[in-house]
Amino acid sequence: MQPLFNLFVLLLYFLIANPVYSDSAAGKNLPYANANEIGAVATVNPLATQAGMEAFESGGNAIDAAVTAALTLGVVDSHNSGIGGGAFVLVHWADGSVEAIDGREMAPGAASRDMFVRNGKADPELSQTGALAVGIPGSLAAYQHLIQKGGKRSLSDALQPGASLSIKGFPIDSVFANRIGRVADKIRQFPATSSLLLDDEGEPLGRGDILVQPDLALTYLKIAKQGVEYFYRGDFAALTAKWMHENGGIITADDFRNYQIKSRRPVDTYYNGYRIIGFPPPSSGGVHVAQILNMLGYLPVKSLATGERYHLLAEIMKRAFADRAYWLGDPDYSRVPRGIIDPDYAKKLVATIDPVRVTTVKQHGMPPNHDVDLFEKHTTHVAAADKQGNWVAITTTLNTSFGSKVVVPGTGVLLNNQMDDFSIQPGVANAFGLIGQEANSIAPGKRPLSSMSPTIVLKDAQPVLTLGAAGGPTIITQVVQALVNTLDLGMPLDEAVAASRIHHQWSPDLLFVETSIHQDILDALSGKGHVLKNREHLGSTQAIGIDENGNFVSISEPRIQKLNTAREN
Ligand code: GLY
Repeated sequence: MQPLFNLFVLLLYFLIANPVYSDSAAGKNLPYANANEIGAVATVNPLATQAGMEAFESGGNAIDAAVTAALTLGVVDSHNSGIGGGAFVLVHWADGSVEAIDGREMAPGAASRDMFVRNGKADPELSQTGALAVGIPGSLAAYQHLIQKGGKRSLSDALQPGASLSIKGFPIDSVFANRIGRVADKIRQFPATSSLLLDDEGEPLGRGDILVQPDLALTYLKIAKQGVEYFYRGDFAALTAKWMHENGGIITADDFRNYQIKSRRPVDTYYNGYRIIGFPPPSSGGVHVAQILNMLGYLPVKSLATGERYHLLAEIMKRAFADRAYWLGDPDYSRVPRGIIDPDYAKKLVATIDPVRVTTVKQHGMPPNHDVDLFEKHTTHVAAADKQGNWVAITTTLNTSFGSKVVVPGTGVLLNNQMDDFSIQPGVANAFGLIGQEANSIAPGKRPLSSMSPTIVLKDAQPVLTLGAAGGPTIITQVVQALVNTLDLGMPLDEAVAASRIHHQWSPDLLFVETSIHQDILDALSGKGHVLKNREHLGSTQAIGIDENGNFVSISEPRIQKLNTAREN
C-alpha cells in the first residue's frame, strides 16, 4: 500500500505545487543571456545550472543559486554527488569575510583503524562497496548552514527543482549511462539501487532513458517540510540505521544525530599579486594548491616553453603528493604542519628539482616547525557569484561513481563510499591509487582526507575568480593548472579550462598526460625521463570569472559538454 500512497502524494504534488522548474532550457547549453545582470552559476549539468539561474530569477542570490544547483545535481548527476555524500563549501560573503564550511562525511562511532583488514590484509572491496564503505553524510547540513546564514530564499525553495525533476524524470546523458554500465555488477548487489538504475531485465538504463526517482522526490519533499531534522534525527536516519543493522553496517541513528559541520579557517596564499583562498584540512586541496603555487613562485613560469613547464609542474606535483601521503589527515585528529605552505620550504623543495631530468622522490619532505605549528583543529563542483559580492565554491561528492552503490530502500538516496578516502592500511592505495599513513587512519568521528579544492581568488581584496574541480587527486592539479593558465599565462577563462592537462601524484610514479598534448612535447617529456600514461580526459573543472568589462564569465567543463554532445549527435 505504501508505494501506492507515495505515488498518490507525488502525483498530487506534481499537479498542484506548480514546481519552480520548467524545462524550457533542458539540455541546452549555457550561458544565459541575463547572467551578467543577476549573477552566474556554473555546473557540469545544464538542468542543474538552469535551476540555479531560476533561483536568481526568483529573488535569490549566489548562495541560493549554488545550493539549488547542488541539490539539483543530486538528482540529475547522482553518480557524482547527492545528499548521501559530503561537501566542502568556500564562500566569500558580500561583507568581504571568507568562510570554509566543512560538510565532509564522518566515520561512524563504531569505526576502527583496521575495520577493513581481513586476515592481515586490507580489503578495498569493503571500503568501496556496501554498508561499511559509508561515512555519515554532511552535504545537506552544509547547505542548510549556508542558506540560513546568507541566502535570501529557504532550503525548502532550493529543494523544489530537484524534487520536481525526480518526479518528472530526465533523459540520462552519455556520461551518466556510461557510469551505470561500468558499475552495473556492483549495483546488482543492492535491490533498491537495481530497481532505480537497471531495467526490468536487470540491464543498465541507457542514454536517453528517462530516470524517474519517486522515492528521492519524497525524501526531498520531506526535508523541505520538516527541515534537515528529517535527515539527521528523523525517519531518514532511522531507516538508514535499520538497513545498516540488517546488512552488516555499523552506522546508527546516533551517528546521524551527532553529525556536525565545522567552520574552518581557509588557507591563504599569495601568487602573482593575487590572494588565493583555499580549503583547509581535512581537504588536502587548499594546502597542496598553495604549496604547488609557492614552488611555482620561484620559477619563471611565463617564459617557459610548454614542455619545460609541464616537466617542472610534474616534478613539483610529485613533491607535493609525497607530502600529502605522509602529513595530511583530519586536523582534529592528526598533526598537520602549517610549514607545508611556508614559502621557504617551497624554495628548498624547488632546489631539489633538475630542470632537464626526472628526479626520484623517495619520501615526503620535512616542513619547518612540523611538530609545533599545526593547522587547527567522482565528485562535482558548483561555482556561483552575484553582483553583491557573494562568491561561492562548492565541491561535493559521493566519492566514486554512485558511492557505495547503496540506496536505502524507500529513500532514493545513494550513499557515499567516502570511508575509502581513509588510509585503510598504511601504504595500501585507495580507489584513486593514493596512499596514506597514520595521519589519515580511521578513527570514530574522524573525517577522511580529501583532494577537493574549492578555491576563490581575490585581486585588491575583490573576488575575481571562483573555481574547483572533480576527479579525485587530479582536482588539485586541475585547479593549479587553471590558475597558472589565467594568472601567469593570461589566457581567457574558457581557454584556461580547455587547455591540455597533466597530472602527477608521486605514487604511482607516472606522469598522466591528456592525449591532446602535441607529440613533440610528449617526446620531450619522455626524453627527460618521465614515464607517460595517456588519458583522454583528466577531470572536470567549473569556474566563474569576470571579463575586462566587469561581466561574469561562467565556464562548465568543455570536456564533459563535448562527451555528451558527441555521443548524442
Ligand atoms: N572523494 C574524493 C575526494 O574527496 O578527494
